[in-house]
Amino acid sequence: MQNTNAVVVVLGTGGTIAGTSAPGGDERLYQAAQLTVGQLLQAVPGLPPGLECEQVAQVDSKDMTHGVWHRLVARLGQHLARPEVAGIVVTHGTDTLEETAWFLQRVLAPAKPVVLTAAMRPATAAAPDGPGNLRDAVTVALDAGARGVVAAMAGSVFAARDVRKAHTSKLDAFDGGDAGPLGAVMDGKVTWLREPPSDEPLGAAHLPPDVAAWPRVDLVVSHAGVDGAVVDALRAIGAKGIVAVGTGSGTLHEAMQRSLHEAQAAGVTVWRATRCARGEVAERPGDFPGAGDLTPPKARIELMLALMGRS
Ligand code: SIN
Repeated sequence: MQNTNAVVVVLGTGGTIAGTSAPGGDERLYQAAQLTVGQLLQAVPGLPPGLECEQVAQVDSKDMTHGVWHRLVARLGQHLARPEVAGIVVTHGTDTLEETAWFLQRVLAPAKPVVLTAAMRPATAAAPDGPGNLRDAVTVALDAGARGVVAAMAGSVFAARDVRKAHTSKLDAFDGGDAGPLGAVMDGKVTWLREPPSDEPLGAAHLPPDVAAWPRVDLVVSHAGVDGAVVDALRAIGAKGIVAVGTGSGTLHEAMQRSLHEAQAAGVTVWRATRCARGEVAERPGDFPGAGDLTPPKARIELMLALMGRS
């Protein structure tokens, strides 16, 4: 069921959805983050009334920063508090969409929907996927069953916890890991396969106002031939947390593990994640805590937020 007479705010952050290529040129050689969110909306015919838009950032999402996240939290908080706003759409690049989604869900876990969407082809492509994804995202934002931060891409709706970019070039580049999609959106209608999760929000006040004070957390990857040099270097530059991306169920090369134990003894918090695309990290007595089913970039966010809570 759709909310009628309600406002949807569309926040633009850049990405391929706002990308352009030279006229007549190879559309794969485009530049992300060129068009404004207002221009993106103009290219989508038949959108419902009551849309507002605001440009929060204009970045290729590989260059996403904590500063942009902080600004998004502030703008989302302001718009979500408006009674006439039914939901919010955020246009984003595909490359770090899953990170932004998880960060926003953990901080805000909004009762209203916040729907991230993106595109694999630039706006100037012969057959761009952005306009359809944007229309679907507005449909989800107006759906009475929607809540929390979700992603709408290529006809599927994913929970922030589950969504991840799983393909480098296909139009349906995202999947939901073992959990799969939350629902589907087609022809202006959302079909929910399960209830959107309701997490407990940490709240915007959890975030230090100066992003430079956010605890530094890095990812290191365990692989054949690895040693502890990167871990030692991170400790030396003052990393507060390290997520070690292990093999299989989160096992770590003994050479790297030694340095991780030294880092832990020096006060660095160490968690384990996995290089595998599916499954959870096994908890083992005496080993570093596992990040469950969170992908490594989401585990990094989780640890950073946990460390904020401790400082
Ligand atoms: C980006 O993530 O901003 C560029 C790639 C994309 O959106 O597909």
